[in-house]
Amino acid sequence: MARILITSALPYINGIKHLGNLVGSQLPADLHARYMRARGHEVLFICATDEHGTPAELAAAKAGEPVAEYCARMWRVQKDIADGFRLSFDHFGRSSSDRNRRLTQHFAERLSAAGLIDEVMERQVYSKADGRFLPDRYIEGTCPNCGYEKARGDQCENCTKQLDPTDLINPRSAISGSTDLEVRETKHLHLRQSAMRAHLRDWIDTREGWPVLTTSIARKWLDDGEGLQDRSITRDLDWGIPVQKGEKPWPGMEGKVFYVWFDAPIEYIAATAEWADAHGLGEDGWRRWWRADEGAGDVRYTQFMGKDNVPFHTLSFPATLMGSAEPWKLVDYIKSFNYLNYEGGKFSTSSGRGVFMDQALEILPADYWRWWLLSNVPESSDSDFTWESFQNGVNKDLADVLGNFVSRITKFCRSRFGEALPEGGAPGPEEAELAAELSRRLAEYERAMEAIEVRRAAQALRAIWVAGNEYLQRAAPWTKMKESPEEAAMIVRTGLNLVRLYAILSRPFIPDAAGAMLTALGLTENEPWPESAEAALAALPSGHAFTTPDVLFAKLDDERREALEARFAGKG
Ligand code: MF3
Ligand code: ZN
Repeated sequence: MARILITSALPYINGIKHLGNLVGSQLPADLHARYMRARGHEVLFICATDEHGTPAELAAAKAGEPVAEYCARMWRVQKDIADGFRLSFDHFGRSSSDRNRRLTQHFAERLSAAGLIDEVMERQVYSKADGRFLPDRYIEGTCPNCGYEKARGDQCENCTKQLDPTDLINPRSAISGSTDLEVRETKHLHLRQSAMRAHLRDWIDTREGWPVLTTSIARKWLDDGEGLQDRSITRDLDWGIPVQKGEKPWPGMEGKVFYVWFDAPIEYIAATAEWADAHGLGEDGWRRWWRADEGAGDVRYTQFMGKDNVPFHTLSFPATLMGSAEPWKLVDYIKSFNYLNYEGGKFSTSSGRGVFMDQALEILPADYWRWWLLSNVPESSDSDFTWESFQNGVNKDLADVLGNFVSRITKFCRSRFGEALPEGGAPGPEEAELAAELSRRLAEYERAMEAIEVRRAAQALRAIWVAGNEYLQRAAPWTKMKESPEEAAMIVRTGLNLVRLYAILSRPFIPDAAGAMLTALGLTENEPWPESAEAALAALPSGHAFTTPDVLFAKLDDERREALEARFAGKG
């Protein structure tokens, strides 16, 4: 039994996430957590909302709420949706927690003591009407290159030219539209990432077996141009963690907060502390997961995230941890994902294109989405959600293969033998063949799940479901009822044991359906992982009672699919 720490990238607080966000971190992280728990490991699965930064402030303003209230409300909304998708976090924290404030200020103090923080005067655009400094992307104006009138201070969306806010013609605040802007000097803290470049490179170079997607992005940042740059870790904002050295003020930095990407990953640690607080586990309760000198040496820590998050997790966050010169636990494996597109284009919040997490749950139960998303996860390249593909996954894999198997065998048993496993004879060559095939496929499934190869794991699981259907088709107990009822009974007994096996193996992917299957068999979620396929086929003895479950998966018909296609196509 090992100790496994799992974190999913923290979703931004502003707004409900779409299916692409879900499949790029939280959902595969949940699959891994569920699998590792099923294999008997001690798992701690952590997530939280990422609450700071300008987007949160602006979303709150738009909603007409104080930002703290907005965040508290949206945390609840996101938590309920996560529960709806059966994301099995041990703790869903908030980066605005007091734990995170303390830890973030602690890290800043340590980094400063290590000589890794510079105080730098910067020139930034100040909006008098808004009473605040404006981040580059909240300054709009005309592009000097192409004349596009809504270019942003960091980039022109029309001609893609990288810009500085001062390049813009007729600059104005994107928040209020005010043109009363001026450039002011303001002091910021820069983390000297460049001083840690060699150290970070050594670390990346010695990560064995990491996905290429992860290491190639890290190397690109280490090698690009002049290499890893120092970066500002503070902002002139109201909402955020006040810049302090531990619990002491930081002279000259009054009224400033840490940059959201500085404090957000620290929340992985802070959320673990929040979890320990909530369970009365004391300081030691969380430190044993995070401090190498206090027991975390034998923890295996895996992070899940979309590819855009990789630089922050391979370089910036490790720089914070290493730079502190304290023995913090570093990540052991980073599983990163490409993007999920929607019907050949991008998901778009503003134009209502694509399916968002709350809408998905109104349409169909979590398992339908979990199965399609995980079996089509953008692992080696971007992937595309289409309603047609979704309909196929639901109708073929879930309804025709798994659902049909369960319904056929339970109904047949009920009508011929009653609702208990029948006696029957000893298994024969068909069953030996089935056991051999299952045994191969089970090994492939376990290998893929251990390696977090999500698509392969889904394929192996589907093949296991198919094997049962084919066995039932071949063995055809319905035709054997007359001439050899003993054999028919044995086949049915084997089939009902397959239902149990399928429930156990499928739980990480489709927990609700798996739970319904176990309940139908009078079993609980504590059924152990199979020792072998052969043993699993004989786990439930004759006489074991069951109830015939309701239809596990309903099909999605063409008419409904077309209506959904139209509903989510966006405003154009
Ligand atoms: N909120 C970020 C995003 O959605 C992810 C933050 S991950 C963490 O892209 F490391 F900061 F926690
Ligand atoms: Zn332009």
